[in-house]
Amino acid sequence: MSEEGREGGSSCRIVVFKERRTMVASVVRKWREISRDAVEKKGFFAAGLSGGNTPEGFYRGIAEQGDTALWDKTYIFLVDERFVPDTHKDSNYRMIRETFLKRVSVPAENIHPIPTVGTDPVSAARKYEEEMSRFFGLSAGELPEFDLLLLGIGRDGHTASLFPGSVALSESRSLVSAVFLDEERHDRITLTLPVINNARNIFFLVTGRDKAEALRGVIEKKNTGLPASLVMPRRGSLLILADFEAATLLSEKEYERG
Ligand code: 6PG
Repeated sequence: MSEEGREGGSSCRIVVFKERRTMVASVVRKWREISRDAVEKKGFFAAGLSGGNTPEGFYRGIAEQGDTALWDKTYIFLVDERFVPDTHKDSNYRMIRETFLKRVSVPAENIHPIPTVGTDPVSAARKYEEEMSRFFGLSAGELPEFDLLLLGIGRDGHTASLFPGSVALSESRSLVSAVFLDEERHDRITLTLPVINNARNIFFLVTGRDKAEALRGVIEKKNTGLPASLVMPRRGSLLILADFEAATLLSEKEYERG
């Protein structure tokens, strides 16, 4: 199923995969296509990566089969981070480093983790915003344009660290927000919706039966209480890649088979 997004030119596709390996292969292929196109057009490829459990296998696949000629022109940012040291078991950067970055030759200076040590969440959000603005050469009020953002969906419909009912959902000026949660989920630093929706390509990676209700809610877009349903790229493309378990509540006419 494809549908026009909010502004002309943006699109949304849902592709459902029977096999995990074909889903990973599809993400790797698209990563290669998007990165090659970005480097050809503007000399660099800027991606934002999410944490959580789902993406681990995809990051390993990209590391194994990514285009080695492009790593030095690849720039990695984080979509969000738990406010813990990068050695903590819950650190997104730790996971991304272990599954992806230590397996590829992306130069250290091209990697932009979110600061979580020797600072506080609000200051860290400001620092990350300044770092992103410098990298993208932004003037006041301008938005960065990531070539690709890899997002997940939580069972409650959150994405990045934008949770249901969060004030960060209505942030319209800042590029990065601090989010204060309970001890188990940790305080967070997250890209805001204006930044996310300004990306050229957004992938949702959704697997497992426990995501089926959230995925149906996001696709039907009847429940704007689900933050992931607010991800609607202004000009770019949104691709939802799911396995059969996560798509179990969708009707076959709603998606393509991968
Ligand atoms: C995080 C992620 C978050 C994640 C969802 C889904 O910091 O947890 O960035 O947005 O994508 O929580 O997580 P799973 O992939 O573990 O289900």
